[in-house]
Amino acid sequence: MSTHDIASLLAGNRLFVAEQLAADPRYFEHLAEGQQPDFLWIGCSDSRVSPNLITGTGPGEMFVHRNIANLVVQTDMNLLSVLQYAVEVLQVDHVIVCGHHGCGGVRAAMGSHSHGLLDNWLRAVKDTELHHAIELEGLDETARLRRLVELNVIEQVDNLGKTHIVQQAWRQRARPYIHGWVFDVATGCIDPVTSMINGNAAMHEVCRFQRAGRRATAAKEAR
Ligand code: CO
Repeated sequence: MSTHDIASLLAGNRLFVAEQLAADPRYFEHLAEGQQPDFLWIGCSDSRVSPNLITGTGPGEMFVHRNIANLVVQTDMNLLSVLQYAVEVLQVDHVIVCGHHGCGGVRAAMGSHSHGLLDNWLRAVKDTELHHAIELEGLDETARLRRLVELNVIEQVDNLGKTHIVQQAWRQRARPYIHGWVFDVATGCIDPVTSMINGNAAMHEVCRFQRAGRRATAAKEAR
């Protein structure tokens, strides 16, 4: 896919510098003064989902955390550190969890092949698939993958809202809003899959939705 070798990345960097300076000779001076991003982006590591590029933002506008399948895992010290810094120090007003259609991580979680260590990481996606088994079973493979990508984002939004960091920020300043989005690699478009959430009342809507899925699963298991 890539037409770049390693040397061309450095050449590309120099071109970037030249272009920025041509547009604004003080661009890097301003950038060096510090960052005040309004957004924290939690997205997939997939090379096609470049947060700044697909949202028309530039350096300094978005604090970013990425991992495979854009998961919010309560014991992930990396994610929690990024979240705490973004919410408490940078005081971002928005946290976006953005999944994407065609996600290899979600597809791997749906399958039965072993991927070694990665299986442990993707376990959370398998749990989401199980919670929504009845809804997902009625879909063909393509639709099932698309729906699981959406459900996975909703689940991560729920996980995010339950963190101590977000709960405390909501009590103190009713921010950040948290958002669940899905990017479609095939069209380039982003669509929200949750409303804007900045408190437990809105969170309950997400949780209620999830519990409905879990109840259906439990009922099925009891049969
Ligand atoms: Co992905």
